[in-house]
This record gives sequence, C-alpha cells and structure tokens, in this order.
Amino acid sequence: MSDVRKDKARIAVFVSGGGTNLQALIDYQKEGKLKHGEIVLVVSSNPEAYALERAANAGITGVTVSKKELGSQAAFEEKLFRAMNKYRIDFIVLAGFMSILSADFTSRYPRRIINVHPALIPSFCGKGYYGLKVHEEALKYGVKVTGATVHYVNEIPDGGEIIYQKAVKVKKHDTPEILQRRVMEEAEWKLLPKAAEKVSKRIVRERGKDK
Ligand code: GAR
Repeated sequence: MSDVRKDKARIAVFVSGGGTNLQALIDYQKEGKLKHGEIVLVVSSNPEAYALERAANAGITGVTVSKKELGSQAAFEEKLFRAMNKYRIDFIVLAGFMSILSADFTSRYPRRIINVHPALIPSFCGKGYYGLKVHEEALKYGVKVTGATVHYVNEIPDGGEIIYQKAVKVKKHDTPEILQRRVMEEAEWKLLPKAAEKVSKRIVRERGKDK
C-alpha cells in the first residue's frame, strides 16, 4: 500500500443494513467535498447488508466481520482491529452499525470514531435504542421535535462528545417509518458527511504537527 496519501485521513465506514448514510458519505466524496478524507473500506457486521452493494458499486472494498460467526466480542473486535491495521485506517465512521463496541476497542481510537444517532442525544439513546425503535419511542413519548446527533464514540453507548445536532419536526400523522425517513433526509445525511470532513481535517492537521 505504497500509495497512501498524507493529505487524507483513511476512513473505514462500519455498517449493518441498508447503508443510506454510507451512500450520503460516498456521494459527498464523489462531489469532491470530502477534501481531507478518503473512504477506503466498508465493514459490515451483516453479510446480507445492502450497504455492501453500495460499496461495491462505488469501487470501495467491503468486508464482513460478523460477531455471530466469530462467537465472542473479543474475537469480533480482534478481527475488526486486524482489518483496521491492514487497511491503515485513521478514522472510523459508524453509519447504522448495530453492534456495540467495547471499551477495549474504542479506547484504541480516542476521538477517531464517530457515530450518527437518529435522535437528539441525550433523548432516546443508549443501550437498546437503535434504528426504528428510536422513532417508535419518540412517537410514543409524544415529542414534537426530534432530530439526529453525530458524536464521538467512547465506552458509553451514545455517550461521547457531540459534534453536530439538527432538530426535525414531528408531524401529527407520523409513523415510525415516515419519521425515520424525514430524520434521515433532513438531518443524518447532511450531518454525517460534514462531520466526517471536520474530523478528517483535524486528523490531517494533527499529522502535520507530528513531523
Ligand atoms: C440510521 O437511522 C442511523 O442513524 C441508525 O440506523 C439507521 C441506519 O440506516 N443508527 C442507530 O440507530 C445507531 N444507534 P442506514 O443503514 O440506511 O444508514
């Protein structure tokens, strides 16, 4: 891998499902807006994830690392760690990644892992709050405003420092699916690529200071 560029952070995007957030990142990169980063790897926790097809269509290497197949959290994280080293990853973006990462893993990448969460943290977040469930709970509670958050990942689920948030209105006849789509369109797909560029830029700048 002698063609490693010094002016771009090497990004791995972790996914588990449809991958619309991955697509937003790919599109942002194609538009030339990801100036300080390059998506070099997509890691899926699920071999069936449509996100893997999105990666292939964009010419990005995709690999599956399945906890179910590996049997334990330690084996799962060891395989992830080996993939990060093999592809010389600087920065990890969790884009609809449905597996929890332990402190063992996250502590190896301080301020180098970000996540998009489909609510305004600290509402509707933490263990058990993922995907559609977040929107079901928001509707059940009766909130009038929800949104999305991009944050750094540490050992506390959804507990790391917030990078960006955007509010989205809840409408009267919303179903969880309709609300999920609005939160993605109005918030997630905008915030995540912007945050990926912001963090990549910092990583490249810090690299410059090390010399
Ligand atoms: C997104 O709404 C993302 O915020 C959420 O899962 C969905 C994945 O969609 N993530 C979580 O709930 C993580 N706690 P996608 O695969 O189409 O990007």
